[in-house]
Amino acid sequence: MIEFISKNNAFLLQGETFSYAMMVGKSGFLQHVYFGKKIDEQDLDYLTKQASILSPNEDNINMDTVFGYMPSEYGLFARGDYREPAVIAEREDGCVASRLRYVGYKICKGTPKLEGLPHVRHAEQTLSITLKDDFSSLQVVLNYTVCGNVLARNAELYNAGKGVIQLKRALSFGFELPNDNYNVLRLSGMQLQERMPVTAPLANGITKLQSICGVSSHFMNPFMGILRGECGEDYGECYGVQLCYSGNFLISAENLSNRLPIRVQGGIADMGFSWQLTGGESFVTPQAYLTYSSQGLGEMSRSFASFIRDYIVAPAWVNTPRPVVVNSWETCYFDFDDKKLCALIGEAAKLGVDTFVLDDGWFGKRDDDTSGLGDWFVNENKLQGGLKKLIDCCKRHGLKFGLWFEPEMINEDSDLYRAHPDWAVHIPNVSGVRSRNQLVLDFTRKEIVDAVYDMVADVLNNNDIAYVKWDMNRYLTENFTLSLPAERQGEFMHRYMLGVYNLAERLLAAFPNVFFEGCASGGGRFDAGMMYYFPQIWASDDTDGFERCKIHWGTSICYPLSVISAHVSECPNHHTGRFTPYETRGAIATLGAMGYELDLGKLTEQNKADTIKQVAHYRSIERLILEGDVYRISSPFRSNIFAVMVVNKDKSEGYFVAERIQSFPGDYDRFMRVAGLDPEKRYLLQETGVIATGKALMGAGLLIPKGGDYSSWVWHFKQVKD
Ligand code: GLA
Repeated sequence: MIEFISKNNAFLLQGETFSYAMMVGKSGFLQHVYFGKKIDEQDLDYLTKQASILSPNEDNINMDTVFGYMPSEYGLFARGDYREPAVIAEREDGCVASRLRYVGYKICKGTPKLEGLPHVRHAEQTLSITLKDDFSSLQVVLNYTVCGNVLARNAELYNAGKGVIQLKRALSFGFELPNDNYNVLRLSGMQLQERMPVTAPLANGITKLQSICGVSSHFMNPFMGILRGECGEDYGECYGVQLCYSGNFLISAENLSNRLPIRVQGGIADMGFSWQLTGGESFVTPQAYLTYSSQGLGEMSRSFASFIRDYIVAPAWVNTPRPVVVNSWETCYFDFDDKKLCALIGEAAKLGVDTFVLDDGWFGKRDDDTSGLGDWFVNENKLQGGLKKLIDCCKRHGLKFGLWFEPEMINEDSDLYRAHPDWAVHIPNVSGVRSRNQLVLDFTRKEIVDAVYDMVADVLNNNDIAYVKWDMNRYLTENFTLSLPAERQGEFMHRYMLGVYNLAERLLAAFPNVFFEGCASGGGRFDAGMMYYFPQIWASDDTDGFERCKIHWGTSICYPLSVISAHVSECPNHHTGRFTPYETRGAIATLGAMGYELDLGKLTEQNKADTIKQVAHYRSIERLILEGDVYRISSPFRSNIFAVMVVNKDKSEGYFVAERIQSFPGDYDRFMRVAGLDPEKRYLLQETGVIATGKALMGAGLLIPKGGDYSSWVWHFKQVKD
């Protein structure tokens, strides 16, 4: 619910578990007033009175002590606020000062339509507040949409004058918190180790999480948790912020002085960014999502997970059972032909797998990673009979067929490059940076996006393809395009992202029955922006049965399990060399959209039988993975046991998965509490036949028996109806 309370000159936004308030101060500045536990309208009398102490007035408006203290909704620049601003707008004379004042508001039905950008799909109403700069023709519209436990925000910057405005920074949101002891939680890492949670105190200065890789990146996920004092999985207060954006981003929390409020803000990274607004033009920033929890990190994660499912992921897929795939990548890399693949398809069918995904290597002249990208037509030397033969083979065995593309890329050794060398991102006369031997196509150019669309659409139109894996295996360098004049080169990175979103939008619209999976060297572009197009994303190339515990733990802090693709792969693991039991690899893969990535034909008879059981088991708990709430119980970063629990919304069913990392004397049988059940309901534990109330199970726990290194347990609880 969104209200304007005229007696307080304030806006009150009510989420399910939070309230958010701001007011128009004496001289028309939009002040942040409150974000936290639910309050009601009466509380605004006190809150706005307090806040008005910090409101600038016409007498002190030019004193530098004033703006530095004022909690702002969208920070100004070069006018006495020494914290980083939300916007830097340069006039034609080079002046960058800004002082934004309130003009008016409107509350409209539905969500703002962010043309060309992913966004929340529905909502009851949106508040739009217009601000106007005192020193330039810049106007800013701040949009606020309440979506359950989450507040969606973005900004639109409009040049109402005739001169040119050069945006040097244009963030999506800002808010401020009373100064206190906070810790910042980030999901950082690298390729093969994505979204590792790291918490550190919010010290004086700026804590800035950012990517300037051209994609949201393996290094840093576009998420920040701000934890107040002591905050654990099920206690304490915290705020979560994430961006619906897949390119360069920043999220910062600034503690300039212990006497000033903490400014939290974020959006597109300003490093190398600029955007030219001629008279009458607007710039629309990506959406940001804010949530608050008074019951620890677990609650924050569940709010974000429900939000991503309810508002971001395509409704047609979100709760639809996912294909259990076998993927050819770790199975045979580039080394395959039609016979080998048909044999794999035959094995897959016997073991209950329902989709075969042909990964890299099927197109152009591609036998390793030095050539072929950009030539999206089948290599008939390798695959005799073409895709048709493989698809027919799948059909004979009752399987669906999936195919890998890397639409944004090009190899110099490709027909596409030979025909259009200028299509690759490059700086004329400068040797470009290669990564994995490939270059990036310049998606700021419409004709290039169109050409890629035509090639991919041609394959999808002419073949019965149920599933596409859209990969992206390098970061952006050069940051230059032939399509823009000098003064607009700073637009390159964002325009590239708009090109990617545009291609995804068009392919999804043209092929609504094709399931698209995202990927970027594993989880290098794992964000709400991508989830708008791809209902699931290959979370990491690291498929190790232990490492994946960490990846699922970290990823679940901000995203639902249903968006995590998780495969069982072979041992020794190709990336870590580790051996983990087949059973454990299967158990951990059930904490996501489960699949396989190994030569099923080479499995032992025992492991083949295990596979049949794993797939059947997965199907029996799949609803929980798609729709359930996650409770993180025991951290693989801090204990010898990894344990998580998933419970459905009406708490009639629960699913528990645990892994013992190392076996050592003295760590034998131990009790592990479960979480999230209804205390009063009675549950039957399918695996053992035990019946107990939620109270007992959550109070006393269950015995985790002795087991070897990387041994695992899965328990499925079902309510017993009296
Ligand atoms: C990336 C992906 C892998 C696989 C390869 C193919 O690394 O993350 O899953 O698709 O590319 O080249």
